[in-house]
Amino acid sequence: MATAGKVIKCKAAVAWEPNKPLVIEEIEVDPPQANEVRIKLVATAVCHSDLHFLLEFAPEKNFPIILGHEAAGIVESVGPGVTDFQPGDKVIPFFVPQCRECRFCKNPNTNHCEKAVLAVDRDSLQHSRFTSKGKKLLQFVGTSTFSEYTVVKEIAVAKIDPAAPLDKVCLLGCGISTGYGAAVNTAKVQPDSTCAVFGLGAVGLAAVMGCKAAGAKRIIAVDIKPEKFEKAKVFGATDFVNPKDHSKPISEVLSEMTNGGVDYSLECTGNVEVMSSALESCVKGWGVSVIVSVTMKDSFTASPLQLIGGRTWKGSLFGGFKGRDGIPEMVKAYMDKKVKLDEFITHNMTLDQVNDAIELMKQCKCIRTVLSVSPQ
Ligand SMILES: NC(=O)c1ccc[n+]([C@@H]2O[C@H](COP(=O)([O-])OP(=O)(O)OC[C@H]3O[C@@H](n4cnc5c(N)ncnc54)[C@H](O)[C@@H]3O)[C@@H](O)[C@H]2O)c1
Ligand SMILES: [Zn+2]
Ligand SMILES: [Zn+2]
Repeated sequence: MATAGKVIKCKAAVAWEPNKPLVIEEIEVDPPQANEVRIKLVATAVCHSDLHFLLEFAPEKNFPIILGHEAAGIVESVGPGVTDFQPGDKVIPFFVPQCRECRFCKNPNTNHCEKAVLAVDRDSLQHSRFTSKGKKLLQFVGTSTFSEYTVVKEIAVAKIDPAAPLDKVCLLGCGISTGYGAAVNTAKVQPDSTCAVFGLGAVGLAAVMGCKAAGAKRIIAVDIKPEKFEKAKVFGATDFVNPKDHSKPISEVLSEMTNGGVDYSLECTGNVEVMSSALESCVKGWGVSVIVSVTMKDSFTASPLQLIGGRTWKGSLFGGFKGRDGIPEMVKAYMDKKVKLDEFITHNMTLDQVNDAIELMKQCKCIRTVLSVSPQ
């Protein structure tokens, strides 16, 4: 590769300040250092976690930054010590690394890894591979994909089937793996069970798809935007509830519908009150509620009696997937038509239009917008 070992000048969407539109800038991307991979991004989608960071997680010190973490691309070059990747490999970077060496990676019950950087690693600013207008830019969750090129640790990159369409499988870098895995890996939904999914964005719809794949017989889709219900049906939802149609708490509505509560509830709205409602919607004795959504604003409250009553409350990060192993499997499932992806994509745009894509998500007018970054 003509660019290997050199600084690459390219385009990226830079978040200079919280709560302000991103700015398309020329940036410089340094060559990968030891155990790093430089990736030419082909497609990136916008996930609600990008918005949480930009709009809610506002400390100025976390800016300027390049957001974006749901993407796919092609390896441009590799740093010293990298043996698993070579230029030309199709890859998906992801935000929960899998080092395979720490005690978390060695434990089959978790996908947390000691090397994970949740949000921003300010300590690494001086080592940032991104510069614009003479200023170092921070990296978001170890990825930063709203850019033509990024540099990612090799432990946070999955090599995928070269036949996979990158403008579709990019969704497996976050939202779809997250929702699907939350049902299959974290909740461990059982055949013939009854499930409720709160929030029908891409993450919630993927949770519906996961419940269906696990054999749930009834999947209740809950959202305050009834226009989402048609899509939920495509992924396997059987019942539809708009909390705004009811004067009583949603947990009571679900309890009446299910003779005492659902076996599994998955919360994908980003609203802490809904997190508590989702727990209360579970049947006593064995109900399992999984928090999937993220918020950086509030804390939840719940009565301890909910748990003493035999319910289990869990959280799920990236659907419990260990990325280097799990993402290639999810890509295979898509190629084998066992997992849907195309149906999540409501809009296609280019990286230049990233602010329009953010606005669509703010207004809840999209499921996923895929931004094309460079040709496949
Ligand atoms: N745990 C993880 O690893 C992980 C990974 C990716 C995303 N997330 C989080 O998952 C959440 C969902 O992401 P997304 O991209 O699907 O977002 P999204 O904005 O597309 O979807 C959210 C949905 O929730 C619905 N909603 C909002 N308030 C509601 C309420 N009170 N009751 C019922 N429905 C309500 C909205 O109408 C919308 O359909 C976000 O908080 C995101 O940050 C978590
Ligand atoms: Zn995400
Ligand atoms: Zn690890």
